Amino acid sequence: DVADIGVTGMAVMGSNLARNLARNGYKVALHNRSVGKTETVIAEHGSDGDFYPSESMEDFVASLQKPRVAIIMVKAGKPTDAVIDELSSLMDEGDIIVDAGNALFTDTRRREAALREKGQHFVGAGVSGGEEGALNGPSIMPGGTKASYERLGPMFETISAKAEDGAPCCVHVGSDGAGHFVKMVHNGIEYADMQVISEAYDMMSKALGMDASAIGDVFDEWNKGDLESFLIEITATVLHHKDATSGEPFVDVVLDQAAQKGTGAWTVKTALDLGVPVTGIAEATFARSISGGTPQREAARGVLPGEEQKLEIADPAQFIDDLQKALYAAKLVSYSQGFDEIAAGAEEFDWDIDLGDMAKIWREGCIIRARFLDRITEAYTRNPKLSLLLSDEYFTTEIAKCIPAWRRVVAFAAASGYPVPVFASTLSYYDSVRAERLPAALVQAQRDYFGAHTYQRVDAEGTFHVEWSEDRRETKQD
Ligand code: 6PG
Repeated sequence: DVADIGVTGMAVMGSNLARNLARNGYKVALHNRSVGKTETVIAEHGSDGDFYPSESMEDFVASLQKPRVAIIMVKAGKPTDAVIDELSSLMDEGDIIVDAGNALFTDTRRREAALREKGQHFVGAGVSGGEEGALNGPSIMPGGTKASYERLGPMFETISAKAEDGAPCCVHVGSDGAGHFVKMVHNGIEYADMQVISEAYDMMSKALGMDASAIGDVFDEWNKGDLESFLIEITATVLHHKDATSGEPFVDVVLDQAAQKGTGAWTVKTALDLGVPVTGIAEATFARSISGGTPQREAARGVLPGEEQKLEIADPAQFIDDLQKALYAAKLVSYSQGFDEIAAGAEEFDWDIDLGDMAKIWREGCIIRARFLDRITEAYTRNPKLSLLLSDEYFTTEIAKCIPAWRRVVAFAAASGYPVPVFASTLSYYDSVRAERLPAALVQAQRDYFGAHTYQRVDAEGTFHVEWSEDRRETKQD
């Protein structure tokens, strides 16, 4: 019982997390269902620090100092439940099991409740940053009890990425499934960000006829300004990359069907349940589904008429500048929608989540790390009760500079027949949320007509109904 912490699941994320812990001076117990993988980690990276490999789960648990901390890094779903059951049966009261994979937060809540009954702690921790992050410093979003964070927090904060001001990219998010909830929304925002970047690329490629490398140069430029972020940076790198086999730009030889493992769809489903309009994330998720819908695309290609207008782009530099501004605006809306979902989740599940802290721990380490996250933290510091991120004065000023360009981009795309689901849906959201009056009034009237669903009036208190099939008299409901 010497190890400070253990990791079970020696695939790349698990082994990288274990190596990160060991490199930071922690004694790390290792376990994997098939021993071969553990042996490989020791053979290749044993010099990273103090590892305590075990062949069986019993030995793994026995090698941990009390209160024990074991991190599970296995495939989400059934495999996780099996490992939790096994670990939990070998552990004592006060011990901590951490699920660092991308689990659905409702599963995490269920598992946390089950372990709490036994006096054990279950912590769902979101870990972002991919393989590289796990090894060199990820952004970590742990949920679970405050007591478990006292034991875990110092270790996680040590191995996490550090922001420019030195702050660790790890904070106790909230109780039970709060960590996995926030990680889920992080991934949803990641989907929206990736899609809108791809829409900007698509327009440069199709409307301006630029090749991948030239578009990569534009992204490199954009990465020097407000858009500076990991996703913009890797986009430039990917666009500059040439395929080894064909010598063609790499992006041109990749099949245009985007896969998904489910976190984006979870974000959207949860948002629907909570009634939060995360339109940018939803459209980004659907865009992946459309791309992968081979039979539908084959049925439509060359069959559905386009009737596109061939608009001339008089000033390509201006067009690129418009795209940059539209990208920034669409990105702001997507993040604002994501933060709305976190706020709604916190309300629904009684989590005390500090929204500004969430932006803080995303500043480094994670996939959506970006310069402008500082601005989000500042906005929530100015007003912790901010009900709409976009309404913060910094963002209203920024977005004002982008609106004409954003509208031009969406109008141009619509006329030309280029799909821009995130550019367009975020603009529609923006115009909806700011509208003086919405056509929802007519929807209410229709509902009252066919279903007697009632409505409220602009000029009087109460609930009303019109006797549509009779004399169309208005009645006031109790
Ligand atoms: C991260 C990533 C990570 C993973 C995504 C990919 O934060 O490090 O989000 O969790 O790469 O789950 O998701 P898709 O396969 O659905 O694109």
